Formats: sequence, structure tokens, C-alpha cells
Amino acid sequence: MLRRMGEPYCVGIVGAGGISEAHLQAIKMEPRVYVKAIADISLSSARMQAEKYLIPHVYSDYHEMFEKDFIDIVIICTPNFLHAPIAIEALKAGKHVLTEKPMTIDVESAIEMKRIADQNGKILMVAQNNRFHGETLLLKRLIQQKKLGNIYHAKTAWMRRNGIPGWGSWFTQKHLSGGGSLIDIGVHMLDLALWLMDFPKPVAVMGRTFDIFGPHKQKIAQWGQVNENGFFNVEDFAYGFIDFENGSSLILESSWASHIKEDQAYVKLYGDKGGAEFDLLNKRAVLYTDNGHEPINTLLKPPAEDDRYNTLKNFIDVIDGTSQQICKPDESILIQQILHAIYQSAETKEMIIFS
Ligand SMILES: NC(=O)c1ccc[n+]([C@@H]2O[C@H](COP(=O)([O-])OP(=O)(O)OC[C@H]3O[C@@H](n4cnc5c(N)ncnc54)[C@H](O)[C@@H]3O)[C@@H](O)[C@H]2O)c1
Repeated sequence: MLRRMGEPYCVGIVGAGGISEAHLQAIKMEPRVYVKAIADISLSSARMQAEKYLIPHVYSDYHEMFEKDFIDIVIICTPNFLHAPIAIEALKAGKHVLTEKPMTIDVESAIEMKRIADQNGKILMVAQNNRFHGETLLLKRLIQQKKLGNIYHAKTAWMRRNGIPGWGSWFTQKHLSGGGSLIDIGVHMLDLALWLMDFPKPVAVMGRTFDIFGPHKQKIAQWGQVNENGFFNVEDFAYGFIDFENGSSLILESSWASHIKEDQAYVKLYGDKGGAEFDLLNKRAVLYTDNGHEPINTLLKPPAEDDRYNTLKNFIDVIDGTSQQICKPDESILIQQILHAIYQSAETKEMIIFS
């Protein structure tokens, strides 16, 4: 079926769990898209979202959905190990793809996703929504205007105190998730920090991972369902140290569970003209400069923005050819390579050198 000019793009959602809600809410705000179908192996979950959002077609098998020529766009909201196979199949079926983070669970499939998107002339984007807050968009503009000068170091973290999600579910099984806190929430901060630093080229990566609480079923999050039949074989804390070709460096920490005062998620940027700090949990960004010995702390006050809506808007603008893609597949591949290098370094206890 050919889409007529001006008609909304028809979206098919795969995965009707927690994060599908955020996408469905964003879609409600964008007149250029309309959800025509939803697929989930749990038909009851798909039906629940279909009823709530008046979605006409419901499938338990996404392959069936991809056969429909009325679907233009596929949004992937499934466990991590399914992002690549679903994206590749959707792209081959001629759909544009917006996938949840992380891009996938290994470097090879990340590269393959981009190759298939290019081969089929379709847009592929990883929904790194944290680039799209009013504060982060403004910070990016200020960095482009050289307000910080050269950024020589950054520090970023997403640390939870008691937040192991769905113990025993796909989240805590490595073959389904690709890893623990690092690939789940560390990926957000790594992506955000590297984007703000303008993606310098990594030359060396060192990392360590720990599984302190998960194996003992401690510090489980209040949300997500515990699966007593499942298991935990991922990390609940990880750190990485990344050296870049331009001489700058980045320290990353991520935890699902730690004995800390409170949850925190931030990026701190150190430039030779100024510094900046973004507090993700409180949506607060501050610029630090000096006037002689007098410190100047400027709280950024951008207009309120919806990061989820902005992510979708950029994706649709790219399809329409009216904007540059903000989250580019090559950047997401690099993120996947760094995640892999941190895991590899943790396993071998060696520094991983990027060629
Ligand atoms: N950007 C964010 O802030 C954010 C937040 C939460 C989750 N996520 C990402 O979203 C994805 C989903 O996370 P979630 O919290 O919604 O998980 P979830 O477990 O709540 O939902 C996943 C859904 O996928 C379905 N599913 C599993 N296999 C399927 C298949 N073969 N075909 C169709 N559906 C299938 C499950 O039945 C479930 O309903 C993950 O990749 C996660 O990393 C992103």
C-alpha cells in the first residue's frame, strides 16, 4: 500500500512492556505518526496497550506484522538480545527502525544493523533519549560555541542504591541482556558524555565489573517482576576509564546496587575555559566559569522539553529529510565497542587498545 503525501507514517511497536508506554505517549504528541499495530509474545500485554491506545492490529508474532505493507516504521521495545534480529528483519522488510537502547548486545550485530539499514536505504536510530532534554540540548549548543573551550576530561555515572531490575528476568541473564548495570544504565551516560565531548576517538579502555549483591538477591528494585526460576549472571557495578586520541579522558561508573547515600546520575565536563555539570535525576545543568578569582555558576534555564517527544521528532524529521540525525548509527556502534571493551578488560584484567 503506498503512503500518500501528508498522511501520517504508520508505526508498528514490537514489545508492549514498560518502555512501550513512553513511546506511545510520545507518539500521541506527534501528528506525523500513528500506531497501527503492536506485537508481543505476551498477547495479553499487547492487547492491554492496544486497548489503552486504540491500536487496531495486535500480533503475538512480529514477523506477521512485518509482512504488512501498511507499516512504515518499527519501534523496538523488546529485551536487548532481540534488538538486532528484529531491526534487521524490519529493515529488510523496508521499514524505518527506531530501537531502544542499547543498540544490541555485541559489536558484530551492531555493525550488521547499520549495514542492512544502508543497503535498504532506511533510517536506523537508537533512541538515546537523554540527548534530547532541554538542558542537554542547550549544553551541547554552548559546547559547540566553545563556552567550555577544550574539554580535557569528563566524569559520568548512573548509580542506584537499591535498583536491580527484575531479578531473574531477562535483565539479569547475560545472554538476554548483554550485561548488567553497564549496558542497562551506564550506556545512557556513556552516550551522553561522548556526544557532549563530540565523540573523540578512543585509543584505550580499562574496566572492571563486580557482582556483589545480585547473586545474593539483595538490593532488588521496587519495580520489575522477580522471576524465581531465573538467575543472575551479570554485573551490578562497573567502571570504565577511556583514553582518547585527542588527549582527553572519561571515567564512567554504573551501578544497580551500592551502599551509597542516594541514587545519582550525572555528567561532569572539565574544559580549559569552563566546566559544566548535568544532573539527570533532577534535570539541572550548571555552567562553571571564573571572573578572575570570582567563581561564576550559571544555572541553565532552557524551556521545558520532552526528551521522548524530541527523540521521536528528530527520527521523523530525518525520515522526512528535514533534519540531521542526532543519534547516528556509527556513534551507537562506537558505544557498543566501548561497552564491549570495558567487559573485555574486566575479564582479562588488561587495558584494551583500540586500533
Ligand atoms: N530509554 C530508557 O530509559 C529505557 C527504560 C527502560 C527500558 N529501556 C529499554 O527498553 C527495552 C525493553 O525494556 P522494558 O523495561 O520495556 O522491558 P519489559 O520486560 O517490561 O518489556 C519487554 C517486552 O518485550 C516482550 N517480548 C519479549 N520477547 C518478544 C518477542 N520475541 N516478540 C515480541 N515481544 C517480545 C515481552 O513480552 C515484554 O512485554 C530494553 O531494551 C531496555 O533496555 C529503555
